[in-house]
Order: sequence, then structure tokens, then C-alpha cells
Amino acid sequence: MPVPTHGAPRVLFASLSSPRIARAAILCAAFGALAGGVVAPAPALAKTAPPKPALDASAVAVPDRYGADTAQQIFAAGGNAVDAAVAIAFTLAVTRPDAGNIGGGGFMTLFMDGKPYFLDYRERAPQQANRDMYLDDKGNLVAGMSVVGHRAVGVPGTVEGMWEAQQRFGKLKWTQVLAPAIRYATDGFAVDPSLQQRRDAAVKSFTGKTNFDAYFSGLKAGATFRQPELAQTLTRIAGDGGREFYEGRTADQIAQQMYGHGLVTKQDLIQYKAVWRQPLSADWNGYRVITAPPPSSGGIGLIQMLKMKADLKAAFDGVELNSAPYIHLIAQIEDRVFADRQRYLGDPDAYKVLADKLIDDAYLAQRAGEVKPDEVPGATPVKVGLGDAMPEKAQTTHFSVVDKWGNAVSNTYTLNGDFGAGVVVDGGGFLLNDAMDDFVTKQGSESAGGVSGAEVNTVAPGRRPLSSMTPTLLLKDNKVALVIGTPGGSRILTTIFQVMTNLYDFNMAPADALAAMRFHHQLLPQKTIYFEPFHPVTGELAEQLKAMGYTLEEQSFNGDVQMIRVEGATPEPAADPRGVGVGRVIR
Ligand code: DON
Repeated sequence: MPVPTHGAPRVLFASLSSPRIARAAILCAAFGALAGGVVAPAPALAKTAPPKPALDASAVAVPDRYGADTAQQIFAAGGNAVDAAVAIAFTLAVTRPDAGNIGGGGFMTLFMDGKPYFLDYRERAPQQANRDMYLDDKGNLVAGMSVVGHRAVGVPGTVEGMWEAQQRFGKLKWTQVLAPAIRYATDGFAVDPSLQQRRDAAVKSFTGKTNFDAYFSGLKAGATFRQPELAQTLTRIAGDGGREFYEGRTADQIAQQMYGHGLVTKQDLIQYKAVWRQPLSADWNGYRVITAPPPSSGGIGLIQMLKMKADLKAAFDGVELNSAPYIHLIAQIEDRVFADRQRYLGDPDAYKVLADKLIDDAYLAQRAGEVKPDEVPGATPVKVGLGDAMPEKAQTTHFSVVDKWGNAVSNTYTLNGDFGAGVVVDGGGFLLNDAMDDFVTKQGSESAGGVSGAEVNTVAPGRRPLSSMTPTLLLKDNKVALVIGTPGGSRILTTIFQVMTNLYDFNMAPADALAAMRFHHQLLPQKTIYFEPFHPVTGELAEQLKAMGYTLEEQSFNGDVQMIRVEGATPEPAADPRGVGVGRVIR
């Protein structure tokens, strides 16, 4: 059936050269090497001879056990941190269809051969998108349109991101890193009860609106879930390279799925490119923080929080972790972080984003100076640009990898909401994102000054929506000391901040740093402190905060941190006890 391309010129897929049979042979070889724990010797597979190991083991922290098993196979085959990361990303695209993805996008922070890198494979707005596309003719937001269904979908970046990273830094063949994912899609995997729960929660918003049910009704706890169409898609991508997704049959399937319903065209896919950006970096506590630059707001926010807290050392002196006065001080820091976010941050390719100014020591010292231990919450307004028009959803996933050569990958990627827009590419078997909802979908109140927040994150063709994803590394003496990240929308940066503070200001062990109570505050709604069911806040602490003027609200989700600390020769992975993740040392 001919595939409509919305009038775009048909561009032939340049690298569709390897015959299918040869491809199948490569894949079979890769399967043979990776299946059943029988591993081919590294020298035959590696592109270059490995340098002398810096650590006595590799390690991963991943949100499910399948990702850990995949990493183990890849390391056994001689792969490095990037090979493992790319293989994990494709595996989670199969075993975590709510969050892992090939139909979404994300960020990867890397440390390779002694140098930091950052890869932006965030989704982009399609060329036909415009700032009012979610409004009705009276200028009101059409409920749900940026969240569910075809018009919520941005141009996906994950496959391009994985291809770029693996081509640049991987040691194994592309087919090898795809093989575990193809196996899970073909043979199936046992569904975790938590995945069924997320499916059950999401299905209500999709039923009758998208084809979600037809593909995912089989996600039942304990059942084996097979995805033959996805297996075919991954097999094509394995055989033909990452551009297949953007220029080959998969691109045609996406364009077909969108035709008449959504805005993403084949031309949008052809034009998609991942971008290598300069990572954001700052000195903190004797470490170098390497983190996500715009279009993430997370790296800026994280550095702002870390530095303001350090500037306020005197105010924090003797203040107990997670006590009411502690939460009050952090909430005031967070007010300022989120005010800057709303006012200044968006796609750096569309606007000059003042990242350096926002993490400048003198600026942060001045902002920290506005924080007052005895201030009544909300008494002094913190300037904001956009009111509360920054909705964020609850599903994304993060994994961390360190290899024995001292390389590291911190990767967060997302469909945005649980199961994205709920739209499955027919024939392709994968879900598409609803990342368009990370734009400001309705013009807010006027900006408070400088670059207007209302402008800087509005929908425009080709623009990347502002994100909070914050894959982060810490270096000590130019060696990896920590790899960390989490899902959680705007909670991402405040969660990472809390775990880092637990580790380095309060000297907690990794497992304790993850298990400790977390809270979140983000300027708007004002005076609201969010808590999590994992660690409910009751009794005296709750009473003290209410007496100070805060409203307490329980939220169902506050992160799934996957991190690896490296202090000695053996990396220490740790998975958040809130999820079903796995930390594994791999020798
Ligand atoms: O890019 C962002 O900030 C959001 N799309 C991330 C959403 C998210 O983390 C939801 N996770 N729990």
C-alpha cells in the first residue's frame, strides 16, 4: 500500500543496502553469541583492542532485570559502557513499554576515555506544528489533546540517539547490541505486576481514542508478553542501521499511522537529527558535576540547588535532614530554581539560553541571599513568568552504566506520560510519545522580564520542548565518582539533588541515600510540599510544616533513581527501592 507523505518528496533510504538474508545471518550470529550465556570471545567482536581496565568490574543500575541481563551479555562479549547502554535502551523499549521506547526521546551524558559528552536526542515539534495547535477557536485549551492521541506526538529521537552514540563510541557491532532486545520481543518476557498496574491505570485514558488496547491488553502480571511486530522493527533497525527508523519502512509506518490524524510526516523523520552538545559542568563539594544542558532545565536547576545550598551553609548548620526547617530552606531554594526555569529556559537552538549566567557563582550567591530561615512561606513573591502552565507527567526511565575501563553512561529517556500518547504504530508495534505536552500549550501571563518564558517554550516547527531530564555524572580527579538519574518530570532535579546531598553532605551509604524520605516543591502551586507514599509524612513533622503555612500533598510517584557510586576499584550500583530496578556488578 502506498504510504502518504503529506506532499513531502520521497527520499530513498540510502543505507538500505545489505540484503535481508545477510542481515538475518548477522543477527543469527549475534543471537548465538548472546543467548543462553554462551558468549563469543571478545577479540573477534571488538573493533579495537581494549585498553587496560581502570576498575575491577563493570556495573549497571537499571529499572528492570532484563536490562541488567542484557548488560551482562554485552559486557561478556567485550562491549563497553556505550554498547551496554544502547543495548539496555533497546531492551527497555521491549520490556518497559510504558517508559522505555523507540518512539520517544531523551538525553545521554557520557564520560568516554577521560572526556565528558552530552547527546540530545529529544523529540522535536513536527514542521506543521504551531503555538496555538492545542487551542479551540475561542483560545481555550482542548483538554487532553497534547497528552493523548496523534496530535500529542513529537518527532521521536531515541533510535537516532542510540545510533549516534554507538557509532561514535561503541566497540561491538550494531547488530550485537540490538540482539537481546530482538530476543525479548520475539520470545517474550514475564510481565512484572508493577507493569500491569501502570497499564491498568493508563488504559482508561486511551480506550476508545487510540489503538493502545489492541496491542497491550496482554500485559498481565506473570504472563509472557511477545511483540512480533516490534521484533520485526528492531530486526530492520539492526540490519539497516539507525536511519532505517527515519527513512526506511519504519518511517513509512509512522507516517501512515499519523496520516489524517497527527502532524508527524516522513519529511519530519528524515530531517530528525540528534545533537552533540557541550554538557553543563560545575564544581561542587570537591567534585565536578557533569549534567544536562538545555533543552533540559534539569542540569541548570540541579547545579543551582547544589550551589545555593552550599552558599547557605551557615543557615543549614545544625539543621537536621528532612526536618521542617530543612524542608523550608530547600523549598525557598526550589522557588528560585523554578522561577528561573519558567522565565528563561527553552530550546537553545531557538533562543539564546543564559545557562552560564544561571549557574554563575555570584548570581547564585545573590539568589541564595534571598532565602530566609524565618520567612513565612509565600510572603515575598518570587518572580515568575508563566504561572502554573508547566504540567509534567509521570513516566520516563533512567539507567546508569560504568565499564571497567572507567567509562560511564547516564541515560534518561521518555515517552513523557505513561505509554506516551497511547498511539501504537500499526505494523511497527511500538508506542509514540506525547512529548508535545512539555511545551507551553497555552500562552500564559506576561513574562516577568528578560527572555519571556511564555515565548521560550512555546510550540514552533522543529523546536525541542523543555525537559527536566537530568542524566548526571560526578567526576573526582577526572575519574567517574557517581552516575545518577531518575524519571519524575519536574521532580527529577529535586530528587537527584536530595540523593546527592544525602550521599555527600550527610555521608549516607548508597542504599540509605536512596531509601531516605523525599519531598518536592516547585514554586507553583505556592506553599505546597509534595510527599510520597513510600515515606509518608505524618505526626510532628506534618504538624510543624502546616503550622509554618505549608500545604502537604501526597503524590503517587517520586522517582526511580538508578545510580552507581565509584570510590574504590569496585563500582557500587544501587537501584531505588521504590521500583523493581536492579544494581549489578559485572565481572
Ligand atoms: O522531559 C521531561 O521532563 C518529561 N517529559 C519527563 C517526564 C517524566 O520524567 C515522567 N516520569 N516519571
